[in-house]
Amino acid sequence: MSDKATLEYNGKKYEFPVTEGTENELAIDIKTLRSATGGIITLDPGYKNTGSCESAITFLDGEKGILRYRGYSIEELAEKADFLEVAYLLIFGELPNKEQLSKFHNDIREESHVDEEMKKILDGFPKSAHPMGVLSSLTSALVAFNPSSVDVSSESEMYKSTVRILAKFPVLVAWAMRKKKGLPLDYGDDTLGYVENIHKMMFKRPNKEYSKNKIVIDALDKLLILHADHEQNCSTSTVRIVGSSFAGLFASISAGISALWGPLHGGANQAVLEMLEAIEADGGDTKKYMAKAKDKSDPFRLMGFGHRVYKNFDPRARIIKKSADEVLGDLGIEDPILEIAKGLEKEALEDPYFVDRKLYPNVDFYSGIIYRALGIPTEMFTVMFALGRLPGWIAQWREMRLKGEPIGRPRQVYIGENHRPFVAVDLR
Ligand code: ACO
Repeated sequence: MSDKATLEYNGKKYEFPVTEGTENELAIDIKTLRSATGGIITLDPGYKNTGSCESAITFLDGEKGILRYRGYSIEELAEKADFLEVAYLLIFGELPNKEQLSKFHNDIREESHVDEEMKKILDGFPKSAHPMGVLSSLTSALVAFNPSSVDVSSESEMYKSTVRILAKFPVLVAWAMRKKKGLPLDYGDDTLGYVENIHKMMFKRPNKEYSKNKIVIDALDKLLILHADHEQNCSTSTVRIVGSSFAGLFASISAGISALWGPLHGGANQAVLEMLEAIEADGGDTKKYMAKAKDKSDPFRLMGFGHRVYKNFDPRARIIKKSADEVLGDLGIEDPILEIAKGLEKEALEDPYFVDRKLYPNVDFYSGIIYRALGIPTEMFTVMFALGRLPGWIAQWREMRLKGEPIGRPRQVYIGENHRPFVAVDLR
């Protein structure tokens, strides 16, 4: 196999090195393309064929349905690890031993307060505000209360900013939900596990003792693990590109939250549930909505189906589907929405339109059903995704900064007007 690729244009040949990843992925390294050819660039809207970086964090093979964090399969991590261990693994590259994990958790606990002044910022939002907007704004506001830039040559500064955001972000998540529900803005309980504490912060009622439900905590833990990283997706690329300008970690993450919000990305889990509810309200006729999804004159898409990378199945969807069945069974919930979801899935898997285009249920198809069973309001679904994705964003930001990657700045092919003289307003 050649380690060079040749490009021929206008009778001239140019050679570029071919680089190979540890999982045998090949990439033509075109770093010198523009200078060698006198200005030619590549054009790849949506970056479907463009690698933006070399990364050692997450491997996924969309054809084979493989997802691994730092070499460990998502199936094994979801079954055997907890979310904090996975966060450590993603960020620092290895699973922590007992002492490392305990120190990590204690350091997070030390930082788990959020400045009281932040409550005034939250106060300024209407109750109707979408919690993703609130979360993005509050995360950005954290910058004002904490140093905005991190000296990446200082291991301790890097570590501090990591534990700080892991500590404070869940408080903001809980506040975003509690504000919506009209509940007092509480802090966590340092005696609890990381995820248990998040659950308590979200659900503790002012006049009631908090009681732990293991099924709920385990399901939440698993969901967070499944969302923890997914290599160079839209929000992660956003975090890396914002961070590449040396914007601080919190500012970069705030931008990632905005990118995640859209219905084609993290917002899909909310869109899935709204779609399932609409189908139920419309009499539960899944065939009608299948036909709409296939009709090119109809903008309706089957939310929760299809993926830019997974073209066989989404391994996270398999785990989550099983988990949805277990959680609903254990909690004794019979949800007509789940039946509609199962019906849609069955029909889509047998329908040539979906089969030919390799459109399979993605992680969001089932996550919303579990969130709903756990009592999490629909508008909070994407916030829960952000909470899970936080370690991935941190890991990717850290990797990018430690490698000293250049500022992200794509080029374009200009297709607008050529130079023309200015025309005064009264002559137009
Ligand atoms: N319903 C109906 N048709 C679809 C769907 C869908 N959900 N998804 C893709 N298609 C069709 C397209 O219309 C297109 O058809 P055509 O070839 O006849 O024109 C073909 O499948 C390819 O679709 P693209 O949009 O080109 O695929 P792409 O890889 O760019 O998009 C995406 C992937 C955005 C996820 C898309 O499948 C989609 O919109 N799905 C619904 C939203 C969703 O669930 N998003 C969550 C993604 S997972 C995540 O972010 C965690």
